[in-house]
Amino acid sequence: MIITGAAGFIGSNLTEHLLQEGHEVVGIDNLDDYYSGKTMFLERSIEDSNFSMVRGDILDLELMKKTMKGADAVVHLAAQAGVRFSVRDPLKSHMVNVVGTLNVLIAAAEGGVKRVVNSSSSSVYGNIDQRPVTETDEPRPVSPYATSKLAAEIYCRQFHELYGLDTVSLRYFTVYGPRQRPDMAIRIFTERILNGLPPQIFGDGEQTRDFTYIDDVVAAIRSAMIAPDLKGAALNISGGRPITINRLVQELKEVCGRRELEPIYLPPQAGDVNHTWGDPSLAMKLLGWKPRIGIKEGLRRYVEWYRTSEERRTYLGAQTMPGTSLARLAISEPLIHNQMDGLFSNMK
Ligand SMILES: NC(=O)c1ccc[n+]([C@@H]2O[C@H](COP(=O)([O-])OP(=O)(O)OC[C@H]3O[C@@H](n4cnc5c(N)ncnc54)[C@H](O)[C@@H]3O)[C@@H](O)[C@H]2O)c1
Repeated sequence: MIITGAAGFIGSNLTEHLLQEGHEVVGIDNLDDYYSGKTMFLERSIEDSNFSMVRGDILDLELMKKTMKGADAVVHLAAQAGVRFSVRDPLKSHMVNVVGTLNVLIAAAEGGVKRVVNSSSSSVYGNIDQRPVTETDEPRPVSPYATSKLAAEIYCRQFHELYGLDTVSLRYFTVYGPRQRPDMAIRIFTERILNGLPPQIFGDGEQTRDFTYIDDVVAAIRSAMIAPDLKGAALNISGGRPITINRLVQELKEVCGRRELEPIYLPPQAGDVNHTWGDPSLAMKLLGWKPRIGIKEGLRRYVEWYRTSEERRTYLGAQTMPGTSLARLAISEPLIHNQMDGLFSNMK
């Protein structure tokens, strides 16, 4: 099985899960400098003899063809994530998310891959009323990131229709849990609250998010790798129970034992949507899956990980900015590793 973006938040959790199940996994990741610290997420996997890591770029079509030939399944997670980043740099979002996905699809189709699980996003829906969106609702993206994710989805469906490649796109609704990206709200709130600083909320805090716990997302991907008759579909992968950001912050303060910290309110951010709420019924039906972890339990697990995991060593210092320590390790040739050797050990 191939996982693009294996070093990232969702990718590293999925990789560990698949290795625990005894599968052979090849991870592809260029260790992009959008944020630092992620090599640590691969430390456990890299010890497993069933794991190989290709350090390379999904924009390198020849590398994708070489790596994907004959794979049972490709889970495509590599992306330039971040709505706000995409407002600053729409071209990079487009290149990685659209052209990169096209490369993955071309390589998979040529290489006889049996199933491609693409990663889409709730952001494709844009601004919706407060009701759960279903896959029949018309997407109206309001950021370059969302546009790129929708374009990638459409390519996935077309590759099914035109070339018979078996694809499915999963629209994740705000995923959280251990290793969550440092640009995401729960991570930022947690860091501030645990440091005794007031959480900063963009807007009035009455915007809602349908948060989805990482283990539920991994379970959905696992099912999507093997479920029959998906035919290029796009499916909502959501917890299905949205809460306001004000309520989220309240819950987090409780879990962290810092109820006294009053939030600071800042102007809303361009590109952000007001509400996300996904109806997961179609995914439940087609994948035989259901979300299991509610927000209280999910936040408890996240904060416990945040407080105790060794992975904090690099995660705590992680920044979303170019030119981090990863840049000095830039290499021109893709390397294949299946041991914790020089490349990874000197990135800690
Ligand atoms: N986390 C969420 O809440 C969420 C929600 C909706 C959709 N998604 C999608 O899920 C996927 C995974 O998200 P994540 O939160 O784990 O992000 P992440 O940034 O942690 O992981 C993405 C990985 O892709 C790698 N990457 C970036 N550009 C690459 C390139 N050109 N070639 C090879 N590798 C490259 C990065 O180094 C990183 O390890 C993405 O496609 C994202 O758009 C995530």
